[in-house]
Amino acid sequence: MSETKIVVRDHGPLLVSGKVTVEDAEGNVFDTGGKETIALCRCGASARRPFCDGAHRECGFQSAERADG
Ligand code: FES
Repeated sequence: MSETKIVVRDHGPLLVSGKVTVEDAEGNVFDTGGKETIALCRCGASARRPFCDGAHRECGFQSAERADG
């Protein structure tokens, strides 16, 4: 089984690669279209939440965290 990896994009989404299921608060599963990598919105501006639709580029979202390790 491949490892699940999350990449925090500068000023953008969380890119999640690997086997993952995305559920809402009621346990319903979102359709990820069988993609190997999905982008989860962290700016809040997407019209397709929880997925990124590129709106972060227009809303001025700024975030560029770096890991200490
Ligand atoms: S991170 Fe891309 S629309 Fe929110």
